[in-house]
Amino acid sequence: METTGQRQPRIAVFDSGVGGLTVVAAAHAALPGLHVRFLGDTARLPYGSKSASTVERYALQATAHLARGDIDALVVACNTASACALPALRAMYPFPVLGVIDPGAQQAVLASVSGHIGVIGTERTVASGAYAEAIAKLRPDAVVHAKATPLLVSLAEEGWFDHPATEAALQTYLGPFLSDPDVSKIDTLVLGCTHYPVFKPLLSQVLRQALGRDIALVDSAQAVTQQLIDLFPQAQQGQGQIELYATDSLDRFARVGGLFFPVYRAQLGLVDL
Ligand code: DGL
Repeated sequence: METTGQRQPRIAVFDSGVGGLTVVAAAHAALPGLHVRFLGDTARLPYGSKSASTVERYALQATAHLARGDIDALVVACNTASACALPALRAMYPFPVLGVIDPGAQQAVLASVSGHIGVIGTERTVASGAYAEAIAKLRPDAVVHAKATPLLVSLAEEGWFDHPATEAALQTYLGPFLSDPDVSKIDTLVLGCTHYPVFKPLLSQVLRQALGRDIALVDSAQAVTQQLIDLFPQAQQGQGQIELYATDSLDRFARVGGLFFPVYRAQLGLVDL
């Protein structure tokens, strides 16, 4: 409920697809008073296999649309777009632009004792070296082991969070990766893609099988939410509106998005960038 004279903060959240709803869900749980306008660029997903300049252009277009409303901050929920577009976005807009890589790196450094930190993400995120750079700034002696796991995005967009095909994909990606003696020292794994938190239970199981122990999983949705709490503590109370937009296939977005977030509570719409 808005109190007279006090405007509830409004944020925009942007991702390449439904995965960014993990950020909306985490932000809404912690800050129910926040108004959230989300855009999933479903027409152009995946971003992770595209060049940095294309991803930057897409992110600028999406933000131009979201910033038409009156917003107090933008969350670039997409790790790939965070790796490619933050400097351009920050140069262009007056409001805070939060990416997911620095918060994820901070959580990883807090969680890791051994200093061996794994990162999984899209091809573009891994190729950018953005996590290694962000982690090195916080803990120069940390060793980052990064692995591209792009197929997981399609499996999340399919809603296959706990499916034999997803288990096989995780084993195929992570089995050989973790069998490297140096990589096997990791005690923390950053889920460097907003689509991945939905795989946490299955991922923990596959990691336990491969390593014979549990390791910490860092989720960018949780990490960036902490920053939002610091920016907008007043939104811990109240009831904000949630608007969810997609650039294509709204029915599909609502159906699969419903596995990430109770979309029936939100206003839904299709936009053309
Ligand atoms: N959700 C995006 C990310 O966090 C990746 C999905 C894609 O490839 O578009 O990196």
